[in-house]
Amino acid sequence: MSSQPNSPEARDVAYHLHSYTNARLHEANGPLVIERGEGVYVEDGEGKRYIEAMSGLWSVALGWGEERLVEAAARQMRKLPYYHTFTHKSHGPVIELAEKLVGMAPVPMSKAYFTNSGSEANDTVIKMLWYRANALGQPQKKKIISRVKGYHGVTLASASLTGLPNNHRSFDLPIERVLHTMTPHHWREGQPGESEEDFATRCADELDALIEREGADTIAAFIGEPVMGAGGVIVPPATYWEKIQAVLARHDVLLVADEVITGFGRTGNMFGSQTFGIRPDIMTLSKQLTSSYIPMSALLINERVYQPLAEESGAIGTFGHGYTAAGHPVGAAVALENLAIIEERDLVGRVRDLAPLMQSRLRRFAEHPLVGEARGVGLMGAVELVTDKTSKTALEKPGALGAAVFAELQSRGVIGRAIGDAIAFCPPLIISEAQLDTVFDTLASALDAVQKQLGDHAVSAVASPAPGGADAGEVRTDRGA
Ligand SMILES: Cc1ncc(COP(=O)(O)O)c(C=O)c1O
Repeated sequence: MSSQPNSPEARDVAYHLHSYTNARLHEANGPLVIERGEGVYVEDGEGKRYIEAMSGLWSVALGWGEERLVEAAARQMRKLPYYHTFTHKSHGPVIELAEKLVGMAPVPMSKAYFTNSGSEANDTVIKMLWYRANALGQPQKKKIISRVKGYHGVTLASASLTGLPNNHRSFDLPIERVLHTMTPHHWREGQPGESEEDFATRCADELDALIEREGADTIAAFIGEPVMGAGGVIVPPATYWEKIQAVLARHDVLLVADEVITGFGRTGNMFGSQTFGIRPDIMTLSKQLTSSYIPMSALLINERVYQPLAEESGAIGTFGHGYTAAGHPVGAAVALENLAIIEERDLVGRVRDLAPLMQSRLRRFAEHPLVGEARGVGLMGAVELVTDKTSKTALEKPGALGAAVFAELQSRGVIGRAIGDAIAFCPPLIISEAQLDTVFDTLASALDAVQKQLGDHAVSAVASPAPGGADAGEVRTDRGA
């Protein structure tokens, strides 16, 4: 960290409490201050460039410096910088975006509803489901089933859906009426000799047993990310989603697809639901919706959700929910331009073209002595680090190996994400083949460096955080966002 008392680093430590950061480590190490971005690159205050191989937080589909988004925002700022959508008010950009999203949906959807973050979107899902249950005269049908290692955000209800210990510990969460079923991670959870298909059957059987035990008449919905992101890029085993959906249909339980990461091309289709044959009743969207140039999120709901909700609002006199900035005209204008660019440049096709390179380069790391599993789909993936391939274990301190590789990677100019002992990658959809090669060449060199340190028994050095990299330097077993 810069020793100047008035440096940005020192002022950040003095005045700014960070999300997903060990505050004590931050006091010691300070931030990595990013000043600007261009394409897939970001640059820090000292002029060092990094390939942002996580698109920020799985977000910046178009990369940094996309002038058309800047201009769309400026145009809308000049015309109508703010209006709301309460009490029958509306405006052009939100109407156009609602129509666009309903039209893009992979299954028939009825309405779009706007929020400002993924957490708010999923919180709103829960409130809609409870409102609906009351409208249908089923006041007991309110429990939501999520999954261990699922990530759905951090507000009280969304954090409860999230199935990661650090989102619950010391926060007195989860709230009641939220249940968690098993993680569909074949490599980690599969039994010896169990095929992916048999493992998927076991996941569905466990869900079935949970619903039976609780009583189907108490379960409103199941929520899942098509591919788990913040839980470690966990791609579901073959036949998982078809088996899960059969269980939900049998028990009349709605399905919510959290497409906050997988929406808008990431998996090689416009939505992850298409990649995995998911037919959701509700979808939540954010991040790549605006390339995160501006905060915005949305829900798509089908007629089964909309009709009872509309009926109840008629009976009560209002749907008493809404955020001041939701459906913001500038956000909607940026989203529309962002979606237009994704379509014009066929970035979904581009992901399909890049996926073989991305996935084959990732998969090759499975041969590295420090990699237990390499996995992914489309333009997202992860390597799970181990020191013992047979027992699938890493260093004694969970997350230490992930932190070490993350730090080596970042010092070589590539930003990935340490999720416990997994290193995740989710580059902008505009990345080139050569840049992807650089990401994975750099990963190879980071892995070799850490392996050498381990060979030299420099394990304690291994667990120390990268300058400004407290985010991953901090040793923990899981991570969100
Ligand atoms: C799948 C998923 N849902 C919800 C969220 C929460 O979004 P936000 O951080 O905007 O609240 C995230 C964030 O990473 C996410 O990955």
